[in-house]
Amino acid sequence: MAEDVAADQSGPAFDPTVSHSARIWNYWLGGKDNFAVDREAGDRVAAMLPSIVPQARADRAFLGRAIRYLANAEGIRQFLDIGTGLPTANNTHEVAQRVAPDSRIVYVDNDPLVLVHARALLTSTLEGACDYVDGDLRDPDKILAEAARTLDFTKPVGLMLLGILHHIPDADEAYAVVRRLVAALAPGSYVAINHSTSAVSGQAMEDAVRHWNKVGTPSMTLRTPEQISRFFDGLDLLPPGVVSCSRWRPDRSGSSGEPDEVDEFCGVARKP
Ligand SMILES: C[S@@+](CC[C@H](N)C(=O)[O-])C[C@H]1O[C@@H](n2cnc3c(N)ncnc32)[C@H](O)[C@@H]1O
Repeated sequence: MAEDVAADQSGPAFDPTVSHSARIWNYWLGGKDNFAVDREAGDRVAAMLPSIVPQARADRAFLGRAIRYLANAEGIRQFLDIGTGLPTANNTHEVAQRVAPDSRIVYVDNDPLVLVHARALLTSTLEGACDYVDGDLRDPDKILAEAARTLDFTKPVGLMLLGILHHIPDADEAYAVVRRLVAALAPGSYVAINHSTSAVSGQAMEDAVRHWNKVGTPSMTLRTPEQISRFFDGLDLLPPGVVSCSRWRPDRSGSSGEPDEVDEFCGVARKP
């Protein structure tokens, strides 16, 4: 399914006339760091697939729940967040440092606009640390080398790959990148992945992504929940496994029943 939905693999250029993933995402999350072209592309996709806005917000809410879980329950104090996106409310370091002020966070993105806004991501507590690497997921060795300025890779790290692996069209390359990153982590580290699929909305999601791939960069490649599960091969997947991110340990306060599924599937796993 859906590999044909992928377009070419072009890297980001700071061109305000071409819509871009980080800025459209920012628009859907209610942010202000986007251009008219991003809002037009975002509205067009939302017209084809109204669930995309709740999906973006469910993805972001998963980020918060996953980090709080890792920081609170597993005592993780270091995070490597690749595919950071534009700063918004509840960035990784804010969530982690609210639990443990001594948390150390490295952000990585390859979008020039995210780099411009990176200062807003570097507001660490005095006890902790934040750094930003202008890097590409397809070059994991560079990311690991630069992240080592801030993170101690002999100790557990929470590797966050949220909303980014679907930007690598070649499945073999995507799996290889994750394997390389995981190999560098100490036992007891965790990997959190969130990845677009069309398991819930089917054709509507595939049409929306096909449109995205005509107007936006970088391209998106949808994968099935089974293909997403393969990113966790060799790791201990935590309950409830690979599920729609709205259903990963949802906050049940004040709500009844299961949240609606969205076409963003996720999982969290431990390196044995
Ligand atoms: C959809 S946003 C997700 C933002 C955030 N992780 C979240 O879940 O809310 C995807 C981000 O990945 C970045 N990105 C895409 N391909 C990348 C690559 N090959 N290397 C580094 N960053 C990349 C984009 O620039 C964008 O900021």
